[in-house]
Amino acid sequence: MDFKEGQYKVRDLALADEGRRLIDWAESRMPVMMALRAKYRETQPLKGYRIAGCLHVTKETAVLVRALRDAGAEVAWSGCNPLSTHDAVAAALADEGIKMYAWHGLNTEEFYWCIEQTLGINPNLTLDDGADLIFTVHNKFPDLVPGVIGGTEETTTGVHRLRAMAADGALRYPVIAVNDAETKWDFDNVYGTGQSTLDGIIRATSVMLAGKNFVVAGFGHCGKGVALRAKGMGANVIVTEVKPTAALKATLEGMRVMEMDEAAAQGDIFVTATGIKDVIVKRHFESMKDGAIVCNTGHYDCEINLGDLESLGGTKRTIRDNNEEYTMPDGRRLYVLAQGRLVNLAAAEGHPSEVMDMSFANQYMSQLRLAEMHKSGTPWENKVYDIPAEQDQEIAMVKLRTMGIGLDVLTPEQIEYMDDYSAGT
Ligand code: ADE
Repeated sequence: MDFKEGQYKVRDLALADEGRRLIDWAESRMPVMMALRAKYRETQPLKGYRIAGCLHVTKETAVLVRALRDAGAEVAWSGCNPLSTHDAVAAALADEGIKMYAWHGLNTEEFYWCIEQTLGINPNLTLDDGADLIFTVHNKFPDLVPGVIGGTEETTTGVHRLRAMAADGALRYPVIAVNDAETKWDFDNVYGTGQSTLDGIIRATSVMLAGKNFVVAGFGHCGKGVALRAKGMGANVIVTEVKPTAALKATLEGMRVMEMDEAAAQGDIFVTATGIKDVIVKRHFESMKDGAIVCNTGHYDCEINLGDLESLGGTKRTIRDNNEEYTMPDGRRLYVLAQGRLVNLAAAEGHPSEVMDMSFANQYMSQLRLAEMHKSGTPWENKVYDIPAEQDQEIAMVKLRTMGIGLDVLTPEQIEYMDDYSAGT
């Protein structure tokens, strides 16, 4: 481990060159972020701001970190999941002066130690994926709260919890819900999760998807993305849901919807994407087929109850990276990927750069917005704020332009027609 007090702790600084090549690759696929970085390098809107970030340390995140730094911010960073840090990327960022505390495979104590190190910069802005940093500031370091202008949150689970916190009056600074931007959830959550989850399953198993009974728990944006991509690969997709409208949407997409109690005995591959705990529990493991593969793509590792699986007895061995075989006392073998943690980041590289380009443009612009709010001298309330609709359209427009896609423009007559309520047929 390479450790420099107050500066970094990463697996191996010698990996920096490999990390730089990976970041170069991501930069070549993130034109919106690169345009924003170039635009704000001149004006330095984040000068004087200290950002603590807690978000998966990937090559795409490195592009965001560099853009924040180049806009003038001092940046300290930790990963938001014990298995998602790419050690080479962490080394590259540490090597270029980012205060980086992250390595792959850290334990829970180390995970929080890393977060706490980033608070050493006395942040006035926070950036989260899953809200662990905000919770740490609120619960363990409340003295820091008055100095924090605001924060941003990347993911559905984090936003959900922060809204609950705000409703209870417990949120002590404003937070922007980056997840709820259309150019985030409608792309990252759907197409990003869809592709990267299948990528993780394939890397950990090399299994054929065509013809398999592929059970997706949850048909929210992430589950929908996984289900659609699995269907596209020729799997027979089964969806389990608790929400009637979501179940109906899955049905009309041609998927079979049933209770997990029934799906458990049919599935060859299971993916949880609900954000809720105990989706797969003891009785489900008891009825699964020999050879069933189980994994999770939700933020926390609570969806598959591995304690229940262990309690069934039997033996366990590692087949390959991110693939553990549990042999039950009755001889059935069940396979758990990435220890029930997000399979797309633990067993693969997370979402592709192209889609993170839009998600991180929203993160970046939200951090700028918080700094602007601060400079204006009019503080916001301690609640969860949405992304402005214009920001979504701006990001989508730039993205389309970089893809060489043009749009029609409404004529004045068409605009008038849309607003006209004087005539019908
Ligand atoms: N979340 C999902 N994919 C990601 C990626 N590639 N980088 C950072 N966060 C992510």
